[in-house]
Amino acid sequence: MPTLVGKEIGPTGYGTMRMTWQAQPPSQEVCFETLNKSLELGANFWNGGELYGTPEYNSLHLLNKYFTKYPENADKVVLSIKGGLKPGQLIPDGSEENIRRSVDESLRVLDGKKKLDIFECARQESKYPVEHTIGVLAQYVKEGKIGGIGLSEVDAETIRRAHKVHPIAAVEVELSLWSTDILENDIAKTCAELNIPVIAYSPLGRGVLTGAVTSLDDIPEGDIRRHMSRFQEENFQQNLMLINEVNSLASRKNVAPSQIALAWIRTLSDKPGMPTIIPIPGGTTVDKLVQNMTGVDKLTDEDMAEIDAILKRHTVAGPRY
Ligand SMILES: NC(=O)c1ccc[n+]([C@@H]2O[C@H](COP(=O)([O-])OP(=O)(O)OC[C@H]3O[C@@H](n4cnc5c(N)ncnc54)[C@H](OP(=O)(O)O)[C@@H]3O)[C@@H](O)[C@H]2O)c1
Repeated sequence: MPTLVGKEIGPTGYGTMRMTWQAQPPSQEVCFETLNKSLELGANFWNGGELYGTPEYNSLHLLNKYFTKYPENADKVVLSIKGGLKPGQLIPDGSEENIRRSVDESLRVLDGKKKLDIFECARQESKYPVEHTIGVLAQYVKEGKIGGIGLSEVDAETIRRAHKVHPIAAVEVELSLWSTDILENDIAKTCAELNIPVIAYSPLGRGVLTGAVTSLDDIPEGDIRRHMSRFQEENFQQNLMLINEVNSLASRKNVAPSQIALAWIRTLSDKPGMPTIIPIPGGTTVDKLVQNMTGVDKLTDEDMAEIDAILKRHTVAGPRY
């Protein structure tokens, strides 16, 4: 079993972002049912953010309500929260004042119902060196207010510099069958060398690797993906070729595409030279969660080779952001 901040976690975690941050978020009842199921199926690493929603209602408010209702689950979950943006805006503010505001606000909203196991700034503001950011957060670890420090969307050099100031608990970066950058740049290699677990975010390609998105009409109005480059018509048509090949591999193996996408990450995690990699798929309902958490654990060498060949045949059109 992988460990994070000294606690055992399941090989697949859970991303709560879309429970509080989408045009029509699910009801609290649906969220609680899904969160309970995720624990039951072993996904006890939960990822959320102060930025996932509004200052009045985001992951932290939902989690406060959840752990008020299920206090017995608080110690079972390892919780990682992103913050460090200007309140209510998607703009990083790496000043000491704002980092402190964000951690203090996260702790205030959690209200002792759940320990803040890992805190990370969602983005590193270029105005401030990472040594400054980690220095501020290290004080919180020393005071016992947070369990550890994570990094999100950073490059390999930043990881090395941060780790010198304070041990880094986890590095959260995008990794999926349509976002393999960390395998080609130095991020996976650096995390393996420094023994830092990688948290693979958007492991289902923001939904395209589930079989549920076969045309742009499948993405609701007001959904953030409609503004992303890979989801613009011309790019999406090209990207569908990769998506369709993954779907067809899944149907030949009699499993769901999401199960292939997640098993590919877990299998990579076992390869020599790779860090521990924990995918954190979303999926706000029990049916999606159960599908993601079951089906196939690891892929065979033949499957991995076939996926390599698929990825070589198709270049993804459009940058990640
Ligand atoms: N550090 C960062 O910058 C960053 C950026 C993005 C995300 N994240 C983290 O990564 C987590 C996951 O990322 P994500 O939500 O962007 O992408 P994802 O997990 O790749 O895909 C989520 C999308 O797929 C849908 N889905 C999930 N399982 C499905 C299934 N079995 N069948 C059909 N549809 C399914 C979800 O539906 P629902 O709408 O029901 O969820 C959602 O629309 C987030 O919760 C967040 O914690 C971090």
